[in-house]
Amino acid sequence: MDNKRKELKVSAIRNGTVIDHIPASKSFQVMNILNLGKSTNQIYFGTGLHSEKFGKKGIIKISDKYFADEEISKIALVAPSATLIEIKDYEVTKKGKVHFPETVDKIVKCFNPKCVTNIQEVPTKFTVVTDHKGEIKLACHYCEKTMLKENIDFL
Ligand code: CTP
Ligand code: ZN
Repeated sequence: MDNKRKELKVSAIRNGTVIDHIPASKSFQVMNILNLGKSTNQIYFGTGLHSEKFGKKGIIKISDKYFADEEISKIALVAPSATLIEIKDYEVTKKGKVHFPETVDKIVKCFNPKCVTNIQEVPTKFTVVTDHKGEIKLACHYCEKTMLKENIDFL
């Protein structure tokens, strides 16, 4: 029997949010879209971690922060498989998959350079559509162009 401790778990947090089950290739993008590089909160970040379901996953733990719906929509667009866990006084108080938005307002840029939202000060607005292959697309409310997920650029 090998009694050596081969794995040390990242510390629990007292209050805040854990974003778990991020596909490893999206971990840094999730950090970026949430602007966590600029945050002064205590943050634990791990990626390339072993996961039974995902092969490799990322996890982000942010102390003293609870995300608004708009931010959760961003996470869902980048990492639909992510689980959001809220912690209060060390206890898990809420846990669930990130919910996918029906519409995406303001947070994403339209990829059509001729779109009014790229010419005037008009906030962007998209409807989330799923094609026959189950791929997510964003349909612009103004120019009616449809963007593939790979083309999504956050504002
Ligand atoms: N967590 C934390 N701080 C706490 C409580 C939980 O950082 N005070 C983290 C755990 O490390 C874990 C996640 O929140 O990554 C979910 O916690 P919990 O539901 O207790 O863990 P598990 O049941 O092991 O989660 P799962 O099976 O979904 O991975
Ligand atoms: Zn447009």
